[in-house]
Amino acid sequence: MQPPRSSFVFALGQPGAEPALRTELMTRGLSPAFGIDGFVSAKSKVPLGMDDLPNLVLGRRVCLSLGKAQDVDVAAIAKDLGAVIHREHGEGHKEGRGPALTDADDGRPVLTLVERPGGSFVGLHRHRRGLSPDPCGDPQLEVPTTSPSRAWLKVEEAARIVTLPIAAGDVVIEVGSSPGGQTRALLDRGCTVVGIDPNAMDEGILGDKRFRHVRESARHVDAKALQTLLPGPARFIVVDVNQRPMAALSSVASLIAAARTDLRGGLFTLKLGDWSLLPELPAWRARIEGLFGPGTTTTAFQLPANRVEVTVFARRPG
Ligand SMILES: C[S@@+](CC[C@H](N)C(=O)[O-])C[C@H]1O[C@@H](n2cnc3c(N)ncnc32)[C@H](O)[C@@H]1O
Repeated sequence: MQPPRSSFVFALGQPGAEPALRTELMTRGLSPAFGIDGFVSAKSKVPLGMDDLPNLVLGRRVCLSLGKAQDVDVAAIAKDLGAVIHREHGEGHKEGRGPALTDADDGRPVLTLVERPGGSFVGLHRHRRGLSPDPCGDPQLEVPTTSPSRAWLKVEEAARIVTLPIAAGDVVIEVGSSPGGQTRALLDRGCTVVGIDPNAMDEGILGDKRFRHVRESARHVDAKALQTLLPGPARFIVVDVNQRPMAALSSVASLIAAARTDLRGGLFTLKLGDWSLLPELPAWRARIEGLFGPGTTTTAFQLPANRVEVTVFARRPG
């Protein structure tokens, strides 16, 4: 059997972000049809195969739409293509969602079954590195009780999609660290963290010897002085400040410039506040790539933990 082709596509994203997801689909030459509960369907002018699907920043999962479940022989297609089956049952329902994929599944077809008012839809895409390995792009991780905020998820969900270039013992600069959810994730990964934030850190974080708090706005931190304070070369920078993206990037520009030759990359939560700013994302990515220097690549995605935010991961070559 030839792999199915379809003129219909659906994307899964954040409930409430459907208008922005529709706009993103339109920029890829697709005509959005309807959107509900983070599900947006769209039509292509020509039939597409599963290797023709666009990567979307706001689309946690982008699939060929094979139609309504009652009209599709899911089991037969899965058998024929050697496809994994993923199902979305709604938040908190982990049973029966299907297995998370591994590196060995690179190139494997995935059938995604999503239930929405109006029907249950069947989607097909091919898993690739850089796409979420989890059913419907959501690992449904639980925040540990030791984490003082849900921002722990931003590190751990990103680590499901990209390989964070950090190892135990690495020094990480974290800007916008209070109260310490992301710090918790970094410490639990064995990193030493210097957190910059004028706000207070959680007591549990402050009690960890591998954490040091610089209680200042990044704008007031002397980048050269910070270098002397670090316990070793900074390998990674995490930025999560409640400023608009360009202002946030200006706040950390001198810190990145001073640490640039040591850094392997960074993880940026960019707070749009309003989805209408999404078309500015290429400019923010270019600014991040410029800060890290030649050869730096960025990828952008929206995590289940993100609000009206996108995450940009930057990787320096070498
Ligand atoms: C969303 S909270 C950060 C949450 C934190 N990453 C966590 O994991 O718990 C945003 C933080 O950014 C801090 N902030 C805003 N502007 C800043 C700046 N220019 N430099 C450092 N921190 C800043 C605020 O004080 C606030 O604590």
